[in-house]
Amino acid sequence: MEYMSMIIIFFFNNIHANKVHDWIRLETHKFAMGFPPLILRSIFLLSLLLSLVQSRSYTSSPNIKLPGDALALSVTDFGAIGDGIHYDSSAIQSAINACNLHYTTSSSICRVTFPPGTYLTAKLHLRSGVLLDVTENAVLLGGPRIEDYPAEISSEWYVVVANNATDVGITGGGAIDGQGSEFVVRFDEKKNVMVSWNQTGACLGDECRPRLVGFVDSTNVQIWNITLREPAYWCLHIVRCDNTSVRDVSILGDFNTPNNDGIDIEDSNNTVITRCHIDTGDDAICPKTYTGPLYNLTATDCWIRTKSSAIKLGSASWFDFKGLVFDNITISESHRGLAMQIRDGGNVSDITFSNINISTRYYDPSWWGRAEPIYITTCPRDSSSKEGSVSNLLFVNVTIDSENGVFLSGSPNGLLSDIKFRNMNLTLRRWSNYSAGLVDYRPGCQGLVNHSATAGIIMEHVKGFSVENVDLRWSDGDLNSAWNVPLEFRPSTVTNLSFVGFSSGLLHESV
Ligand SMILES: *[C@@H]1O[C@H](CO)[C@@H](O)[C@H](O)[C@H]1NC(C)=O
Ligand SMILES: *[C@@H]1O[C@H](CO)[C@@H](O)[C@H](O)[C@H]1NC(C)=O
Ligand SMILES: *[C@@H]1O[C@H](CO)[C@@H](O)[C@H](O)[C@H]1NC(C)=O
Ligand SMILES: *[C@@H]1O[C@H](CO)[C@@H](O)[C@H](O)[C@H]1NC(C)=O
Ligand SMILES: *[C@@H]1O[C@H](CO)[C@@H](O)[C@H](O)[C@H]1NC(C)=O
Ligand SMILES: *[C@@H]1O[C@H](CO)[C@@H](O)[C@H](O)[C@H]1NC(C)=O
Ligand SMILES: *[C@@H]1O[C@H](CO)[C@@H](O)[C@H](O)[C@H]1NC(C)=O
Ligand SMILES: *[C@@H]1O[C@H](CO)[C@@H](O)[C@H](O)[C@H]1NC(C)=O
Ligand SMILES: *[C@@H]1O[C@H](CO)[C@@H](O)[C@H](O)[C@H]1NC(C)=O
Ligand SMILES: *[C@@H]1O[C@H](CO)[C@@H](O)[C@H](O)[C@H]1NC(C)=O
Ligand SMILES: *[C@@H]1O[C@H](CO)[C@@H](O)[C@H](O)[C@H]1NC(C)=O
Ligand SMILES: *[C@@H]1O[C@H](CO)[C@@H](O)[C@H](O)[C@H]1NC(C)=O
Repeated sequence: MEYMSMIIIFFFNNIHANKVHDWIRLETHKFAMGFPPLILRSIFLLSLLLSLVQSRSYTSSPNIKLPGDALALSVTDFGAIGDGIHYDSSAIQSAINACNLHYTTSSSICRVTFPPGTYLTAKLHLRSGVLLDVTENAVLLGGPRIEDYPAEISSEWYVVVANNATDVGITGGGAIDGQGSEFVVRFDEKKNVMVSWNQTGACLGDECRPRLVGFVDSTNVQIWNITLREPAYWCLHIVRCDNTSVRDVSILGDFNTPNNDGIDIEDSNNTVITRCHIDTGDDAICPKTYTGPLYNLTATDCWIRTKSSAIKLGSASWFDFKGLVFDNITISESHRGLAMQIRDGGNVSDITFSNINISTRYYDPSWWGRAEPIYITTCPRDSSSKEGSVSNLLFVNVTIDSENGVFLSGSPNGLLSDIKFRNMNLTLRRWSNYSAGLVDYRPGCQGLVNHSATAGIIMEHVKGFSVENVDLRWSDGDLNSAWNVPLEFRPSTVTNLSFVGFSSGLLHESV
């Protein structure tokens, strides 16, 4: 009880004392410890305008218009067989190289087309000015053998990768398949046990498998109308790129396979992801920073299911993240909804999450996450790590149906500041069979920590949290399972709170 503020204890008692009015309404004049509402409203409007300007300027980026005489080279003309048994690697690579030569001499983009068929291949190098056109009923099949990838450097293990390329992309309506099931040592509905190519010294640990598709140090990248499926490891990797568009892409990974992330965007600027369908085991859309900052990422109109986080910033977070917009996204039965695992000192600012429906559920402790719909943490990874801060986050029009509450956890030198929740409905109900009361700080930090109760919103090291028009309900059936604290925080680490139109109570109660 010491853990909660006096105010919360008061309302908490109120819930039990007065069953008829089993809800809380905190009015500004009673409760605002922060900015006056007028200022809040202006900030809100301003962020809204900014986010609209941002999403407009990126979602309307023009499609590639191929001139009528654009060159198209078929891989079959270069000797590809497409029977799924013989390797077509050198034929495909020759077609790509010829296309690239055409581009460098004429400056016009060239297509490498794959007629219907299954094209087994070792690693391919995509080059400037080349569009891989994997047509409907064509499949590019990644080789499952270690010798299909370069012996020396595991960071270059991809089925298809573009390095230092410009005007480059993949389309066509077909599929690129990583044969992920060939990498499973033991199928397990909790979590598959995977092979790791860690015997040769080129890669250490248990994550030594090839990624599916990568764009590295590239500009003007387009990936559209394609299915990327069964990756052995990360699926689509965008590294130090500028001006990338990913649209109408389906990513289908095994739900039980670890590390088969959907889209990992690293150290890249001006990335637009739209109309994507991602159904996979590990993090679905995952911005990271390793060698430089990440600016201007928008993801809109997507559907996501994952056994990890649907959207996650981090955990690699050495540099800043700024100007990200996530809009019109459905998150279905995922282990976590919107997450930030800031661990390495990078700062996060100006992020909008709008029009998002989230349903989360708990699967298994071997996966990070405990069904938190929103999870923001900045604890340093280990004693040598710096603390990054998070500021100016807006969550607006968010509907949540989840097995756990919201977790907002800064750190002493990595505060969460200026966090806004607007127009949100949260329904908390636990239907799977797991014990409440554990808080998940992984990776690093304090790990899994025992906690007495499960709260609607847990806060620590927060400076400036404003809530407007937010309704929190929990299932009547769960009364015995510690669902009884709407807000939990220590006043010593949480300041500048403002609650306007916040209500909390049982699900089936008429108010
Ligand atoms: C990148 O490509 C350009 C030509 O497009 C070349 O001049 C440059 O050397 C390449 N850089 C690297 C690091 O390969
Ligand atoms: C996607 O590819 C299919 C098959 O090639 C084609 O029929 C369709 O028009 C393409 N759709 C878009 C949006 O490009
Ligand atoms: C190699 O990977 C396996 C998992 O496939 C793991 O059990 C083992 O510890 C790894 N070995 C090293 C040296 O990392
Ligand atoms: C971004 O890439 C698209 C497609 O490759 C291209 O049409 C557009 O001109 C690029 N924008 C900038 C600012 O370079
Ligand atoms: C992204 O923009 C930042 C800020 O301008 C810059 O420092 C960084 O080099 C850019 N990254 C890329 C990959 O263009
Ligand atoms: C991010 O987007 C803004 C607004 O469109 C633009 O002014 C800025 O240059 C972009 N930043 C980078 C690093 O490209
Ligand atoms: C939201 O995204 C879905 C696709 O997931 C799309 O069908 C719908 O039109 C989008 N809604 C708006 C308002 O853009
Ligand atoms: C969220 O759910 C509401 C009500 O079911 C629906 O109207 C809305 O379109 C959904 N939005 C998204 C992004 O799924
Ligand atoms: C994050 O912000 C702090 C405080 O402004 C600053 O000291 C630190 O260098 C920033 N981190 C990065 C990676 O720039
Ligand atoms: C929240 O629920 C109320 C009442 O059912 C509804 O009017 C409102 O549109 C909902 N808002 C969101 C963001 O789901
Ligand atoms: C939130 O939802 C309301 C009602 O559907 C809509 O008018 C408003 O534009 C939405 N806000 C944002 C930022 O999308
Ligand atoms: C529920 O949890 C208990 C205790 O951990 C376990 O013994 C039981 O098998 C579980 N039941 C289901 C259906 O998972």
